[in-house]
Amino acid sequence: MARKSWTAIVAAGLFALTACGGGGGAGGGGAITLGFAQVGAESGWRTANTKSIQDSAKTAGIELKFSDAQQKQENQIAAIRSYIQQKVKVIAFSPVVESGWDTVLKEAKTANIPVILTDRAVDSPDKTLYKTFLGSDFVAEGKKAGEWLAKEFGSAAGDVSIVELQGTTGSAPANDRKKGFADVIASNPKFKVVASQTGEFTRAKGKEVMEAFLKSQPKIDVLYAHNDDMALGAIEAIEAAGKVPGKDIKIVSVDGVRDALQALADGKINHVVECNPLLGPQLMDLVKKVAAGEQVPPRIETTETEFDQAAAKAALPQRQY
Ligand code: AHR
Repeated sequence: MARKSWTAIVAAGLFALTACGGGGGAGGGGAITLGFAQVGAESGWRTANTKSIQDSAKTAGIELKFSDAQQKQENQIAAIRSYIQQKVKVIAFSPVVESGWDTVLKEAKTANIPVILTDRAVDSPDKTLYKTFLGSDFVAEGKKAGEWLAKEFGSAAGDVSIVELQGTTGSAPANDRKKGFADVIASNPKFKVVASQTGEFTRAKGKEVMEAFLKSQPKIDVLYAHNDDMALGAIEAIEAAGKVPGKDIKIVSVDGVRDALQALADGKINHVVECNPLLGPQLMDLVKKVAAGEQVPPRIETTETEFDQAAAKAALPQRQY
């Protein structure tokens, strides 16, 4: 029975593979065919990332085969295997978690299909299994959040109690944002992370976990959320508990989606560290280069900023996502 339903889920995932973009046959002459295995649709950031990839493929005349893994590694692996079978020219994916990719990456290499990692990295020691990584420095993002906290609470008397909403367990952004933040706050013993749990990068789970934190923790001074969606869910929980987000509990989060910048402008969030989801144009350039057999740099990092309230107010009118 359990086996049957697992099979059904994988089959559903494969049926969810869709093609869009310009014409041309898979892997043959004409347009380059790109198989892209997306993590899911867990956040506003992810929605903007997907749109950027789909729009850029169209503009670049690249035939895009797109799949949504619903935050499940087995679905992503099934999608990559399907792209190998279809003999696409290039495979790109944003790995839901860091570990466990070597086997499928070796299968792509054996089939002579170059792989590009976007947004999230893998922890494989064999760097020949993929051509390049395009995305953010997540450790630096966590450090920026910690540096804001150190500045904000530098002169505060007594301990500062912090709760942390982590991203998807085992994912690069959850691991790295946790590490970057922890490295910075370790320099001052008054900063205490009193509770830390995954909110899976979603609004609903962020709300649910924050509700539990509010019940179990007698004192919360700061919420550090690994993404905006979890912070936005947590705001609902804080307000429902009769507290004022941004005042009773200060909030720092990562991404920079419109709703979070609006919450920052409204004083409900105190600081946002940007993570850029608009990777599509750079990805399509890389796809063309690796399809042509050109050398590409092993790692390409996106440029990102930070927002305080004034910066959020200034950025909101033009914010695309
Ligand atoms: O990998 C990037 C992260 O994934 C974003 O910060 C988060 O919102 C998304 O779900």
